[in-house]
Amino acid sequence: MATKTKKLFIKTYGCQMNVYDSERMADALAPRDYVVTADMEEADLVLLNTCHIREKASEKVFSELGRLKKLRDRRAGQGKPTMIGVAGCVAQAEGEEIIERAPVVDLVFGPQSYHRLPDLVQRAKNEHVVDTDFPEEDKFDYLPQASKQATIARGLTAFLTVQEGCDKFCSFCVVPYTRGNEASRPVSRIVAEAKALVEAGVREITLLGQNVNAYHGQGLDGADTGLAALLFELAKIEGLDRLRYTTSHPRDMNDALIAAHAALPELMPYLHLPVQSGSDSILKAMNRRHTRAHYLKIIEKIRAARPDIALSGDFIVGFPGETDADFADTLSLVKEVGYASAYSFKYSPRPGTPGASLEGQVEPHIASERLLELQKLINEYQLAFNHSCVGKTMDILLEKTGRKPGQLAGRSPFLQAVHVDADLSLIGQIVSLGIKSAGQNSLYGEQLAKPSGKPDNPRQADQPRQSIRSA
Ligand code: 5AD
Ligand code: SF4
Repeated sequence: MATKTKKLFIKTYGCQMNVYDSERMADALAPRDYVVTADMEEADLVLLNTCHIREKASEKVFSELGRLKKLRDRRAGQGKPTMIGVAGCVAQAEGEEIIERAPVVDLVFGPQSYHRLPDLVQRAKNEHVVDTDFPEEDKFDYLPQASKQATIARGLTAFLTVQEGCDKFCSFCVVPYTRGNEASRPVSRIVAEAKALVEAGVREITLLGQNVNAYHGQGLDGADTGLAALLFELAKIEGLDRLRYTTSHPRDMNDALIAAHAALPELMPYLHLPVQSGSDSILKAMNRRHTRAHYLKIIEKIRAARPDIALSGDFIVGFPGETDADFADTLSLVKEVGYASAYSFKYSPRPGTPGASLEGQVEPHIASERLLELQKLINEYQLAFNHSCVGKTMDILLEKTGRKPGQLAGRSPFLQAVHVDADLSLIGQIVSLGIKSAGQNSLYGEQLAKPSGKPDNPRQADQPRQSIRSA
């Protein structure tokens, strides 16, 4: 008997790990005949995959739920039922309370329950369901692999979670509470998943973990294996041209990993290494367990191993107790490192974290002023880095059509967006481009030589990407 196809819409907030998780949720529901749609209006099941890292991110979920109530009523008027689920870190942190605040929600489940999703959805047809346990079993052992078709639709670059959770307990951060203790997947599983991605045409994989460079999974020989050895193993996969990893903690940037940057051409010369502040006293209050000098020493070693590496970071301004002098230390660190890009945030006290109850909370208008000043400086360095690329030749992975007709868009080794006027047939190829001009957020290139990529890439230029969106 043929089963009726149901439509699934997933809206993703927050980090890349949520993007990956949303894809796995779609994979988990595919055997139950759920097909992803880009149109929320036609969805039988709407899932919000949420982020709890800052208050703003959490609050977005509740305004979306207000809109969803209207959508549900509209659809009900047409005789169509709609199920609404909240997943991710807000779900983990707030559980039952989400349904109390937004009764439109049928289903709340945390990041460790995705493999149970088909059963949770079944149960939610009859009752409100909340599942925020940290189960004994590892969800990765139960989640089905993506179909080749789904992988092809998702594009030429892919995320692959290798590690989850965090034991660092920075005093501002909810991650250790929402994602739990650090856990690493075995090398064999990661390699198998990477091979399946490559078989479906993926050429670049970004390994994900909240604390990815603390990775210590079971190796192929059964021994404890670090991120450097995992990268060496993955680099052996034919057709996997580019590797990246994110996000790292300075304390876990060990010599083996730094050496991998020198040894592996597949490992792209870009590193996101958050520091959060340039002031030692704030770093201490944040429980970062490293100093400014320690951070700079690591940067020096990385640059010795890979002189062209582009560095990125994360910063928080307005952490409790931050003085003008502390903030000046952050500005001076940005100048000293010369980041190619960086992300900066106003401190947001998170319930349950030690930072939230610290004395000396900084006035919001001061934090806002500091954020503006820091972002201005970061933008200057980013623009300078982009300008320094003009006149150089770079290998660009052409991923999709660009915004303007006749243009393709891709990424440089340094993760910059690059546009080029080129033929559609080049999508999926790594092409040598001369960089002609640069702006704040992207480069413009011209084709120099014949593409160096695989001639048999299965991609079609007009294949749409799936509807899982990052907000
Ligand atoms: N307030 C502001 N920014 C935060 N981050 C994490 N927690 C908070 C918070 N409570 C930032 C950090 C981290 C990035 C993912 O988000 O800079 O590296
Ligand atoms: Fe949060 Fe990163 Fe610190 Fe872990 S290392 S507590 S994820 S900021």
